[in-house]
Amino acid sequence: MQVGAGFVGSIPYPAHALTTRRPRPYHHLQRARVSEGPADTAMNDATDIAKTTRILRETLELEREATRRYAEHQSWAADPRLCAYWEGLRRNESDHRGQILAELAQLGAAGDWPAPAGEGPLGTGPTDGTAPPDPGDPRGFARALATLRSDVEFERAAVKKYADFAKALDDPRLKALMREFVRAETGHGRGLQRTIEQVTAADYPVVLFCPTCGWQLDFGPAPAEGARVHCPMCAMTFALAVRDGQFVLDRV
Ligand SMILES: [Fe+2]
Ligand SMILES: [Fe+2]
Repeated sequence: MQVGAGFVGSIPYPAHALTTRRPRPYHHLQRARVSEGPADTAMNDATDIAKTTRILRETLELEREATRRYAEHQSWAADPRLCAYWEGLRRNESDHRGQILAELAQLGAAGDWPAPAGEGPLGTGPTDGTAPPDPGDPRGFARALATLRSDVEFERAAVKKYADFAKALDDPRLKALMREFVRAETGHGRGLQRTIEQVTAADYPVVLFCPTCGWQLDFGPAPAEGARVHCPMCAMTFALAVRDGQFVLDRV
């Protein structure tokens, strides 16, 4: 038997039941009321809103850039698996963008935000995120791999930035949203890293869109340049070539 424990009638009760005190309701809120005058409070509120707006605005620009970046990669990727993954990322980033726009609207700071400086049409801007091919990468995937690596860097920078934003924000709901973004962008970084490992593996089959009809043509792992495949859908035959670090199919 513990010291301090006892019995109520024949029912035993534990020692802690004797000492448990009810918490005082709302005492934390009462303590939060510091002696600010109305003018101080208004100024603090304005500073908070300005800070929150600046953070959300910066987040919006990052999310717009991320959305545009992953759409751009799909525009030239010949591998349907890479297209599918980049599309998954694009949708996720586009959701983030929508969430931040809604938060800005709630703050009364919504507007037709101009595109970030230097942003051009898809695939043509200086910030399209496409890296030049690395000649050390497997033939045909050099452009994709260099781009995936630059995506990893992009996501790592976003994780760091959002972790800082989560600390800087005061509103618990916005802090939670920012932590959710940290979780998402961390997942992107891991997924991109996993994709790089898959693409560089010796047994990764070369599967490419048919340039005539869009069907998927499977050349198997490590095909030789010049390998031919017949598309069962459009009845065209193609020879495999590598140009600018990317597989291309020439109609035979
Ligand atoms: Fe995002
Ligand atoms: Fe085809």
